[in-house]
Amino acid sequence: MTEVSAGREGRRVEVSAPGKTILMGEHAAVYGHPALVAAIDQRMRAVVEASSAQGVRLDLPQVDVQQQCSWQELIDYGRRAAAAWELYRETPSPEAFGRVRGDDPAHLVKVAVGEVVDFLGRDAVPGGGQGLHLAVHSEIPLGAGFGSSAAASAAIVSALLTWFGVTPSYDDLHALTLNVERRQHGFPSGIDTSTVIHGGLVWAERQADGSLHSEPLSASPPWLRRVRIFNSGRPRQSTGDVVAAVRRLRQTDRRRFDGAMETIVAATETLRRTVLDGSPGEGKMVALMRRCQRGLEALGVVPEEIMALVRRVEAAGGGAKISGAGALRGPAAGSLLVFHEEDEIIDTWRFLDPLQPVRTTLGAAGVRQGA
Ligand code: MEV
Repeated sequence: MTEVSAGREGRRVEVSAPGKTILMGEHAAVYGHPALVAAIDQRMRAVVEASSAQGVRLDLPQVDVQQQCSWQELIDYGRRAAAAWELYRETPSPEAFGRVRGDDPAHLVKVAVGEVVDFLGRDAVPGGGQGLHLAVHSEIPLGAGFGSSAAASAAIVSALLTWFGVTPSYDDLHALTLNVERRQHGFPSGIDTSTVIHGGLVWAERQADGSLHSEPLSASPPWLRRVRIFNSGRPRQSTGDVVAAVRRLRQTDRRRFDGAMETIVAATETLRRTVLDGSPGEGKMVALMRRCQRGLEALGVVPEEIMALVRRVEAAGGGAKISGAGALRGPAAGSLLVFHEEDEIIDTWRFLDPLQPVRTTLGAAGVRQGA
């Protein structure tokens, strides 16, 4: 049980968390391999205020939800999702995951409130007709590989704890946020969670004991500013669906899976050395992007339409890769990183016009109080 301080009435707490882009290592991270991830300066904001109405008023414009819930409803919601996730962990199947995720557009937010109340203890919940108002606003494109769910989870968990007078340790914030992510995606590696909490550039790798070690890198190599980010649109499959499809590939075609993993891991480790050395050398970033993308294509997470665009980038002398889970089919695969040694040339590639450029700075601050 955690000490909860009194005197929160009238307080307004605002916490923001950045989105993220995975430079390299997506999917491989799920199997314990390393990843290099950067926080982006599009942010998710959670605002918590006292309200006179009992329970919790949810105000979630991005998913079109305005709802008044009792504390008990939210506690029960979080517990049901946690119990369903345990069953899913024992016997993973799409049906079992369907019971975890359900179809409530406010699912993540309800789970986050439930997790925090369970962590604090039921007695922390205000009685006597007092409640709170929780609003969440996003600048991060939802469900497109930019870490919106990790950012929302971290911002909400941190804002609620702060409102209840608790300053969470990194480990507590990470554990609670990861639990919310599990109810949303199934088996997240935790790399998104670490990055949105730390901010900056993060090297994350699972340890022998199963815990995720994440190390913020202080280097800011000049080529990082030349990485362009595009949004190819929201994939038709969720991150959980794509991660589950890769797991099936592992069972049905182990050689292909292992070969793809080896390619992704080799590119990711070379990229880390490149970050730490500072000087990638002419052509190296392009070659690394192309190599990592081949590994992701072999995993089946790049739909044909996006593969065709990547081939055009390559024919024009650049390199491109999806960033995040990608997609199994359809015209969109979320975030796409594009690199060319002379990045201005990318602006002249009309074939990228159907994608939305995401103007951002890599290496933004992690979760913090305020906007
Ligand atoms: C999701 O942003 C990245 C994946 O590697 C899944 C994960 O690491 O949890 C596809």
